Amino acid sequence: MKRILAAILTVCIAGLALGGCAGTPAANTASAGTQSGAEVVSKAEGNKKLTVGFAQIGQESGWRDAETASIQFYAGQHVDTIDFKFADAQQKQENQIKAIKSFIEMGVDVIGLAPVVETGWDAVFTEAKDAGIPIVLLDRRAKVSDDLYATFIGSDFITEGQNAADELAKLLNNKGNVVELEGTVGASAANDRKKGFDDQLAAKYPDMKVLASQTGDFTRAKGKEVMESFLKTYGNQINAVYAHNDDMMLGAIEAMKEAGMKPGKDIKTVSCDGVKGIFQAMVDGEANVTVECNPLLGPQFFETCQKLKNGETVEKWIKSDESVFRADTAAKDLPTRVY
Ligand code: AHR
Repeated sequence: MKRILAAILTVCIAGLALGGCAGTPAANTASAGTQSGAEVVSKAEGNKKLTVGFAQIGQESGWRDAETASIQFYAGQHVDTIDFKFADAQQKQENQIKAIKSFIEMGVDVIGLAPVVETGWDAVFTEAKDAGIPIVLLDRRAKVSDDLYATFIGSDFITEGQNAADELAKLLNNKGNVVELEGTVGASAANDRKKGFDDQLAAKYPDMKVLASQTGDFTRAKGKEVMESFLKTYGNQINAVYAHNDDMMLGAIEAMKEAGMKPGKDIKTVSCDGVKGIFQAMVDGEANVTVECNPLLGPQFFETCQKLKNGETVEKWIKSDESVFRADTAAKDLPTRVY
């Protein structure tokens, strides 16, 4: 029992320090104490609820906040059947690893993880596997062998990068200079959006050139800062910006306006996600295209966790359904957007 309480406390302390756990609508750490009296809270013994621990990356973007809200909302709507633990890792892999270890100690049924970076997960995933706890990767991938995780729920980032290249090519009539704002270094969303984009340019658009490419860490502030430095170095040579997410593009739009440029006109824009802010920018004529990436994964996530608890098999990749949105329909689309 002591071990259970220690584990609960660890996640709560981590959660509080990290801004998660207590205070989130669906967080429910106390209920673990009413479960089995075994050394480790057991799925088999007494706990009829689905117990899930989720290690979120942080709060770097509007997209991520929407994902967190979707998960917490679903858990909050199902408190009678779901016992949910949430940890916000503040962008640090070491915090995600700590959270996973705490969830293992607690003996949750399933661990969910949005991996901040792709590599460095083998040891902790092996611990989860040895404890018999399946791992569900949510929205980002991890580079581990297939037997170390149950499924990946999320987007095809390579296709998003290819779509972004096709959209920019249309905006530039297949010719021009692009600057690229990359996501977090080492993140699958950044690696694959870059690869998809670069490969598509190489294969189809020989007259489109990437002048410079730098990380903006998926944040608006960093996107603005990096765009300012691109503008200083390349000025009028820049025909378009490709940003791995909308938040960085919104920062870049501020930078272009402050430099006296007209984003969406002088410099074309394509970014990924589909947050309301970029739709508003398209309505205002300051952005051109967003390649959608769906963060509303809460229902799919918990349904998958339940299947895993039931011992059912799940697909190795549960793919999100996504679209591309352009400025010409933004005014009609904006009211329908939920994030
Ligand atoms: O993993 C998905 C990416 O992470 C989103 O594009 C971005 O906004 C988020 O922070």
